[in-house]
Amino acid sequence: MPSSSNSSERFEEDQLASSVVAIDGPSGAGKSTVARQLAGKLGFAYLDTGAMYRAVTWHLLENQFTELDDHVALEGLLAELKLDLRPEGRVYVNGQDVTNHLRSREVESRVSAVSAVALIRERMRAMQRDLASSGPVVAEGRDMSSVVFPRARWKFYLDAEPEERARRRHEDFKTRGRKVSESEVLSEIAVRDRLDSTRQDAPLSRAHSAQYIDTTGLDIAAVVDLLWQRVIADGGGTSPELST
Ligand code: DC
Repeated sequence: MPSSSNSSERFEEDQLASSVVAIDGPSGAGKSTVARQLAGKLGFAYLDTGAMYRAVTWHLLENQFTELDDHVALEGLLAELKLDLRPEGRVYVNGQDVTNHLRSREVESRVSAVSAVALIRERMRAMQRDLASSGPVVAEGRDMSSVVFPRARWKFYLDAEPEERARRRHEDFKTRGRKVSESEVLSEIAVRDRLDSTRQDAPLSRAHSAQYIDTTGLDIAAVVDLLWQRVIADGGGTSPELST
């Protein structure tokens, strides 16, 4: 087993050799759609880390596991968890396609508590770094710039007014057939924002080095274009060796 300092040194070296666009921000800021489209435009892979936390949450719910403090049992469940994020966006847990369950009410209401568990974050962090080490990636979540990829070459923090975030998520839920009012979505967002930004381990926060983008009033295409311009302006799409 390598020591943690060796593995973090190795990770920093790996990171120097790869291209990471890190995108963070609260729920409903448009991160997922923007990150997916930006990745497509740049020819980078897309890493949806929220989907990873949702998939773990689904796995725990499926196993009726609620004792998040029971680390021994949790270790056991995590040990048997095989997450597979397919390039087309589908997510598999131990061979089962769980994509359509990731935005269910049950997962929505549990994912903040699950993602606050240090053991789970540690496991996800390792997986995220491993996935990014194989090539250029647009990685999206809450702690990409601050914790997982602190040396990412491009860092963005996407935000929007809570009412606009609620409106976007409400539209999203409507297309998925979930019946919920916009005011309920606004309260859910407020709860999630509070939990995500007050947890001890890797809370949602705006890294100093991240470029802040307020997406209120902007459509997806405009945000994608803005980020794409900034990445390209700083040598994106070429390998780090060629662009220095
Ligand atoms: O981005 P999303 O709504 O799919 O994220 C689902 C949950 O996972 C959200 O409550 C915050 C958590 N999350 C996290 O803690 N760290 C990440 N890197 C990504 C998501």
